[in-house]
Amino acid sequence: MGKNKISKSDPTVFGTSENTETLRWNSGELFLLDQTKLPLVVVEEKQESVEQVWHSIKQLKVRGAPAIGVAAAYGLLIGIREQTALNLKEFLWEIENKAAYLESARPTAVNLKWALIRMLECSKTYSGNDSRGLFKQLEEEAILIHEEDVQLCQRIGVNGVSLIKEGMGVLTHCNAGALATTGIGTATAPMYLAHENGVQFCVYADETRPLLQGARLTSWELNKAGLDVTLLTDNMVAHIMSQDLIDLVITGTDRVAANGDVANKIGTHGVAVLARHFGIPFYVACPYSTIDLNTGEGKDIVIEEREAEEVLNFGKRRTTPEEMKVRNPAFDVTPHELVTGLITEKGIIRAPFAENLLKEYL
Ligand code: MRU
Repeated sequence: MGKNKISKSDPTVFGTSENTETLRWNSGELFLLDQTKLPLVVVEEKQESVEQVWHSIKQLKVRGAPAIGVAAAYGLLIGIREQTALNLKEFLWEIENKAAYLESARPTAVNLKWALIRMLECSKTYSGNDSRGLFKQLEEEAILIHEEDVQLCQRIGVNGVSLIKEGMGVLTHCNAGALATTGIGTATAPMYLAHENGVQFCVYADETRPLLQGARLTSWELNKAGLDVTLLTDNMVAHIMSQDLIDLVITGTDRVAANGDVANKIGTHGVAVLARHFGIPFYVACPYSTIDLNTGEGKDIVIEEREAEEVLNFGKRRTTPEEMKVRNPAFDVTPHELVTGLITEKGIIRAPFAENLLKEYL
């Protein structure tokens, strides 16, 4: 698993310039690539406690809906691994307790809740009477969730690849890439496969204020993989579209409601409105773990509101007067009417979304 060098300044931080996996589970230890430091520093952080995993999710060291689901499943193991001496009843109580705690880290991406519910359901199927045996069963489940995520990304890629044609300009917003999953991403999966097939096309990556996931992460990972990527600030999209440079938009999502409304990184709704104005197809890529049939429509999705500091500063530099009032919703909801299709592991789901989502996912 790569040659890790232990950083002298912090014994819990392992540095490597080679390993760029979003996360890995290695002999009972969880390592997360610290995405807040990318692209300047490529460093993994070993997770020592469930509180550390909670903070890593909250601070976006690990981020992107599928990746936080996988991280939470492993994070639960970190939270209970030292409690296997408890009797089964007490151990089950601990599992529920730690799962509820992890779920509170971020509200919008349903994958977090989904992965933890899956772990809880797995614990209920345990037929033994020893907590160590249950821990082992849960570890197997977390590894399964992880492996499945890799496969789901691949399927999304296969189902979306034909949308990308020679010479196209493809716009994406935020990072729904390899870094947001444990595979080849969701929005980026068709891009990686089209590139592998030798299709020549150009990706436009929105910078994605305030935390710059497009600039720091999407452009970094696509560049590294040899794709042709051009960075835009968020306010350039209308102009670039008006110049006929964009033929297709593909974004990821944090939650798809039962009627097909999609929550994704703040700014996505604006991109979708512009795409409709310019007659550009707007696709959203996601695995089934992001589809939430229990949430009727977009207005029922809880939108995370983050700290003002993220908007008041650009990086670490203050860019506003003191005492500014600030809003910082991390996500917005794109109404299903603006979505051309959902690229999923099952294929491309189109309108009527409510009907077709039920057909595929109930
Ligand atoms: O706040 P973030 O960086 O976690 O937001 C991520 C996004 O909005 C992604 O587009 C979404 O989670 C889909 S990831 C495949």
